[in-house]
Amino acid sequence: MVAIPTETVYGLAGWIFSEAGLNNIFSVKERPFFDPLIVHVDSLKRARELALEWTVVHDILATHCWPGPLTLIAKKHSKINPLITAGLESVALRCPNHPQTLKLLASIEGGLAAPSANKFGKTSPTTSFHVAEEFHNDVPILEGGECSIGIESTVVGITLLKNEYLVEIYRPGYFTARMISQILEENQIKASVQYAQSPVAPGQLQHHYMPRIPLVIVPENFNWDKDRLKVESALKKTFSQPKIWEQPKNAHLASRELYSRLRQFDQEGYDIILTAKLPTHSAEEWLGIWNRLHKAQSLTVEKDPAS
Ligand code: TXA
Ligand code: MG
Repeated sequence: MVAIPTETVYGLAGWIFSEAGLNNIFSVKERPFFDPLIVHVDSLKRARELALEWTVVHDILATHCWPGPLTLIAKKHSKINPLITAGLESVALRCPNHPQTLKLLASIEGGLAAPSANKFGKTSPTTSFHVAEEFHNDVPILEGGECSIGIESTVVGITLLKNEYLVEIYRPGYFTARMISQILEENQIKASVQYAQSPVAPGQLQHHYMPRIPLVIVPENFNWDKDRLKVESALKKTFSQPKIWEQPKNAHLASRELYSRLRQFDQEGYDIILTAKLPTHSAEEWLGIWNRLHKAQSLTVEKDPAS
């Protein structure tokens, strides 16, 4: 087992053909076995070898987006250990865009199964320092600098319907539905690309990515001095060190910083984090960020109907 850098977040990796390595990931992460892992490969060719079925949509998306922050679900080959897939008939495959990890992947057979390198349900790591802290220096780490994307890959499921493909996004990330539609359109593929309504992917739990201090989502005009009672009565606690967290204007910058800020505010001695959802955040490139913030929050304060 080794922690590996990727462009999204650090992963806690084990060789897909080592049952001991795979078991180790679940125990170190304290992750339940019903939550399947992503298999990381160095190429499209390797991905195909681990899938039983590989459609033209898999091929086009992998060709355009790999190495990169896109995970493709495919029917699994029998050589994939059921521990990786939580007993599902499908496997999640991704070729990460990071030079050291690609080199490591090329030097082994098959690939590396890796969830994010954090304790189950906690904030994902975007530096080797975060990983070391999370596991108290118990895990060897392949140093690879800071992750450039900062939130986990877009996870996509692909189904062939009567005369078109259904491409469902189970977890939003850097690649948006619009970007995926455009790639398929340019390649003359008839497909409907949509965000999955219900969390069909196991592991898509409501509470996830949580920092140690509460994160509260507030309306744009929220004023701590005036409105703090709403928060304190809902959380049944008083707070003395609030951090008013303004998101960077640019979504890609915001996603790069997201997890390290959540860790940083806690360490700086704040006891609560407040961040506002702005009208500009309804643009599609913010979906991944707000998906994580909603899961990491302890409370959302709704806008006052009177104001
Ligand atoms: O960017 C990423 O994807 C990072 C880096 C390390 O590659 N990995 C990551 O792994 O986020 P993890 O375990 O934290 O998230 C894996 C996600 C889960 O939400 C799980 O539901 C989904 O992938 N997944 C895995 N196998 C699946 C399957 N067969 N069908 C549907 N979803 C699956
Ligand atoms: Mg994770």
